[in-house]
Amino acid sequence: MPVINLKGHVALVTGSSSGLGSAVALKIGLAGATVAVHYRKEKSEADDLVARIIAAGGKAMAFGADVSNRSEVENLFASIDRELGSVDILVNNAGIDGIRALCGDDNPDNWEKVIAVNLVGPYYCSREAVKRMRKNHKGVILNITSVHEFIPWTGYTAYASAKAGLSMFTKTLAQETADDGIRVLSVAPGAIKTPINKSVWGNPDTLADLNRKIAMEKMGSPDDIANAVSFLVSDLAGYITGTTLVVDGGMLLYPDFKHGG
Ligand code: BGC
Repeated sequence: MPVINLKGHVALVTGSSSGLGSAVALKIGLAGATVAVHYRKEKSEADDLVARIIAAGGKAMAFGADVSNRSEVENLFASIDRELGSVDILVNNAGIDGIRALCGDDNPDNWEKVIAVNLVGPYYCSREAVKRMRKNHKGVILNITSVHEFIPWTGYTAYASAKAGLSMFTKTLAQETADDGIRVLSVAPGAIKTPINKSVWGNPDTLADLNRKIAMEKMGSPDDIANAVSFLVSDLAGYITGTTLVVDGGMLLYPDFKHGG
């Protein structure tokens, strides 16, 4: 019996056709949860992941939707109800960095899109999840934020604002739903090697610059995040709610202060 046992749970992991989401969906599936693998465009990647989970003895199915579209999210949850049962673990992972641009030189449509996907999407999904979790008096909502819920990031005002907003959404919703047996949490990844930041780790100079910003001087792997998420959604974390677990190799530790001061 694995230490983390999610048998009997139905988990939705948004944006799980690639990157962090796919590692999270796989790990949760291997721990016994039935997994709704969500994608927006990458259907074949989502189908591949479903096949991997099933091949390992788990249960999974792929579902497509745009998390920033309210009626698509409502339909997504209704389809999962029909096919897999009521979601009692929601991982709001789907997110985009957006296009780097300074405020004033940027395109407001891009700004709004980042807020729509990274903040409004988790709200729409949580709304549907909470309705179901309240009825069953159990559930966990886990929001993937970022070190940029704490660290400002020039050129990414929308991204940092969305992540800081999502962190406060976590705390407020945790307070609001504690009496309903629902836990709400955030995991804040640092620089994790995924397609989202390939332009940085794909180039030795920008990778070296990034590593200098991390106390452990190396990027994390999607599995580092999946391990943290699996623990937090499990009963082992049953007394933890309304807080952020930072998984960043020490990015928040002011690594420049290793020297001088
Ligand atoms: C972003 C990555 C970035 C990391 C550290 C994450 O939230 O998605 O692109 O490398 O923060 O800055």
